[in-house]
Amino acid sequence: MPKPEKQFERDFYRLMDPYPVIETPRLRLRRVFRADVDDLLEATSDPRVSKYEPWGPYDREETVQMLENIIAQLESGLCTEWAVERKEDAKVLGLVHLNKVDFFHRSAEIGYWLSRKCWGRGYATEGVRALTEYAIKTLRMDEIIAVCHPENAASLRVLEKIGMKHQKDLPRYISLRGKTADCLQYHITRWDFM
Ligand SMILES: CC(C)(COP(=O)(O)OP(=O)(O)OC[C@H]1O[C@@H](n2cnc3c(N)ncnc32)[C@H](O)[C@@H]1OP(=O)(O)O)[C@@H](O)C(=O)NCCC(=O)NCCS
Repeated sequence: MPKPEKQFERDFYRLMDPYPVIETPRLRLRRVFRADVDDLLEATSDPRVSKYEPWGPYDREETVQMLENIIAQLESGLCTEWAVERKEDAKVLGLVHLNKVDFFHRSAEIGYWLSRKCWGRGYATEGVRALTEYAIKTLRMDEIIAVCHPENAASLRVLEKIGMKHQKDLPRYISLRGKTADCLQYHITRWDFM
């Protein structure tokens, strides 16, 4: 008999094949393609998008490399990144992902970033809510966490709007362009979500 966490991991990746497409009224969360590079470059090359992220800004070559890394994960069946495609014009606004998937505790960390041109229209809230719901209801995770810089007001607001609650402070948690910064951890559990 495999350990329960091993069985859970196998089931998780079985549920991810074929790669899930998550629909919301305005968005389609779907696998990434190489052809998404131009749309994604709008976000990756903008220092305001990566201001609170440990990466970036990226030039085209670095963005291509990022996509190649995601495609390699897709090909090995271990990908947890979704392109956020706007349905009305098929434009890719950014990415949402599940990181640090923990099969023992059945938890994962959600992350997201979108091109600045589309900020303030509720797209992040719609996409992040949909992926959180999918992770809990379909992928059977028990807890989704999010880690956010305390000055990242837009992201904190997104987390509040989807019902996440502050769980703990994370002192000196990330390095942002050579400077160590504190973060806040938010979370939502299966039981809150239901
Ligand atoms: C965080 C991010 C994804 C939000 O995207 P978005 O599509 O603009 O988000 P939404 O429109 O769904 O919601 C944003 C909310 O923040 C609010 N907001 C935006 N800037 C704000 C500010 N400076 N202070 C307070 N609230 C702010 C908006 O008014 C909105 O709340 P409302 O609906 O109550 O009015 C986007 O800003 C981004 O990509 N940032 C860079 C990457 C990033 O920080 N990712 C998260 C890492 S934890």
